Amino acid sequence: MAEVVIVENAAAAGELVAESLRSLIEARPDAVLGLATGSTPLPVYSALAASVHRTPLDVTLVRGFALDEYVGLPEGHPQSYRAVITRDVVEPIGLTPQNIQVPNGNLETIESAGRDYEQAILDAGGVDVQILGIGRTGHIGFNEPGSSFASLTRVKTLTEETRADNARFFSSPDDVPMHCITQGLGTIRRARHLVLLAFGEAKADAVAAAVEGPMTASAPGSAIQLHPHVTVVIDEAAASRLANLDYYRHAWANKPAWQGI
Ligand code: F6R
Repeated sequence: MAEVVIVENAAAAGELVAESLRSLIEARPDAVLGLATGSTPLPVYSALAASVHRTPLDVTLVRGFALDEYVGLPEGHPQSYRAVITRDVVEPIGLTPQNIQVPNGNLETIESAGRDYEQAILDAGGVDVQILGIGRTGHIGFNEPGSSFASLTRVKTLTEETRADNARFFSSPDDVPMHCITQGLGTIRRARHLVLLAFGEAKADAVAAAVEGPMTASAPGSAIQLHPHVTVVIDEAAASRLANLDYYRHAWANKPAWQGI
């Protein structure tokens, strides 16, 4: 089962996960990170950036794969995930831009983009740690309800709920693309460690469905239950619909000192 860690706030989650990423990079300088976008993982990226600047760490060999990208945005669009990853992750942490890949949402090559991305991940030896957020629809990546647990990187249609949630990043809701290219649930499940973060009451149902609900394509986040190494880092509000809260707290309080997340 997933290890569920309930933290005081998003900043504490950021510190916890950044520390684990730092240890990974210290042990394996060319580690492969799976990078989510959206608001949720930002505290992780800023805590890792602060850590790297406070106590220098060579991150030039670190490799990264974004989870997803919008389809059809003009190149260089500030809300393309390529631009977001560059701004929020690559530049502040000091990663090498050439080592960071984002699915290609260019319409001209979209038919082969999923296959190419899968191959690139395989060529890199797979993802060591996949950072995940979760949408209110229960999506991880942009695998909206109904996505196969075996799915690989491909084009998906965003739900209207997800488009509305992401409208805050665009000047008008109509500007949010209808399509995205996303790692599949099968792709995500191949990463060696999944770290799912969620904050706020609006995520509580999706978190409960992912962690404790029946495994079903209707709750794509529940695919994490098939994975042998999952860490779910959430605040009290996002944890509020979990049935086994007492046990999660008990296990965390008694966690063996030698064991990382
Ligand atoms: C982003 C992604 C999505 C987001 C999810 C939550 O790359 O794949 O699954 O993690 O939509 O978004 P936020 O964090 O903005 O609430």
